[in-house]
Amino acid sequence: MSILITGGTGYIGSHTVVELSKSISDKIIILDNLFNSDFSVIEKLQTITKKNIIFLKSDICDTNFLKHIFTKYKITSVIHFAGLKAVGESVEKPLLYYNNNIVGTISLLNVMKEFNCKKIVFSSSATVYGNPEHLPIKETAKLSTTNPYGYSKLIIENILTDIYNSDPSWSIAILRYFNPIGADKSGIIGENPSGIPNNLMPYIIKVATKQLDSLNIFGNNYDTIDGTGVRDYIHVSDLADGHIKALDYINNNNEIIKINLGTGKGYSVLQLVKTFIKVNNINIPYNIVDRRPGDIASCYANTELAKKVLNWESKKSLQDMCLDSYNFIKYNIV
Ligand code: NAD
Ligand code: UFG
Repeated sequence: MSILITGGTGYIGSHTVVELSKSISDKIIILDNLFNSDFSVIEKLQTITKKNIIFLKSDICDTNFLKHIFTKYKITSVIHFAGLKAVGESVEKPLLYYNNNIVGTISLLNVMKEFNCKKIVFSSSATVYGNPEHLPIKETAKLSTTNPYGYSKLIIENILTDIYNSDPSWSIAILRYFNPIGADKSGIIGENPSGIPNNLMPYIIKVATKQLDSLNIFGNNYDTIDGTGVRDYIHVSDLADGHIKALDYINNNNEIIKINLGTGKGYSVLQLVKTFIKVNNINIPYNIVDRRPGDIASCYANTELAKKVLNWESKKSLQDMCLDSYNFIKYNIV
C-alpha cells in the first residue's frame, strides 16, 4: 500500500511526512512541483525519518502524470496539501489560484476516482469562517470568505462534500487549520519563505536574524486583550499529528468529517512577540502601524470535535512554538 502526499515538501506536508513515517508502514510518495519548496527537503526528510521516501517532481494539474503514479504505486490514500496560500497574491492573481488550487484538486480527484482510491485528507483553513460571529469557532459556524484563496478552499470543501453525497464509499477528512508555526524539534525542517513574509512568525524570524529591521504590528485598537489581533497558533508538529489521527479515522470509517485543528487558545500579536523575545533571549524591535486591510480581530478554534472524533488535541505551548521556530533558523541560516 502507498500513500500519496501532494505538496509534501512544503511546510506542513514535510512535518506530516515525519509523523507519518513513525506511524505507518505504507510507502510514502511525495508529489510536489517545488513552486514553494525545494529538493533539499527530501534529503532532510530522509535524515530525520531514516526512510527511503519517493519524490516525484510534478504538478497536480498534470492528470496524465497522476495516472502514471497511481498505476505504478497502487496509491490507496492521499493527503492533499498542494496549493498556493498567499491571500494578497490571490487577490492580484485570482486565475492562478483558481487554476492551481481548484483545477489541480479536480485533476487529482478525477484520477483518484478512476483508480478507485477514495480516501483523502484535505488541507482547508480557518479562513473559511471569515469574520466569525462567535468565539471559539465551531465547525458548524457560518462559512464565508472574502478573497480568492479563501474561495478556493470553500469551493474544494463543497466539491468534496458533493462527491461524498454522490458516493458514500468515499472517506474524506477536511481539516481546517488555524495558524501553524514552529518547526520539527530536530531543527532540520521548518518554515523559511523567500522574500518579505506575509505571516507573523516568518516576519519575526527575519527580524530576529537581522534580515529585516523591525516588525510592523498591524493595529493596536482591536477589541482584544491588548488591542492587537488574536489568533490560535498551533505547533506544526501537533498539526501534523492531527493528520495521522484523521488518516486513521478515514481508514476505518466511510464518512466525511470537517474538523478544526487548533489549540483552542488565542494569543495576541504582542503576547506572541513578547514570548518569542523572552524564550529566545533576543530583541525584536517593533512599531505599531495601521490595521492590515481584511484582518479580523480574533480567531480561535473550538476543539471539542477534534477531541471527540479524532481523539486528538494539541500538546505544545506557545513557548515551544517560539523556541522551535527560532531553533530551525539557527540550524539553517544564522
Ligand atoms: P507550502 O507552500 O509550504 O506547501 C505547499 C506545497 O505545495 C509547496 O511545496 C508547493 O511547491 C506545492 N504546490 C503548490 N501547488 C502545486 C501544484 N499545483 N502541484 C504540485 N505541488 C504544488 O504551504 P503550507 O503552509 O505547507 O500549506 C499546505 C496546505 O495547507 C496548503 O493547501 C495551504 O493552503 C493550507 N493551509 C496553510 C496554512 C498556513 O498558515 N500555513 C493555514 C491554513 C491552510
Ligand atoms: N501581523 C502583524 N504583522 C505582520 C504580520 C501579521 O501584526 O507582519 C498580525 C496580523 O495582523 C494578525 C496576526 O499577526 O493579527 C496573524 O497574521 P498572519 O498573517 O500570520 O495570519 P492570519 O491569521 O492573517 O492568516 C493565516 C494565513 C491564512 C489562513 C489563516 C487561518 O495566512 O491563509 O491564517 O488559518 F487562512
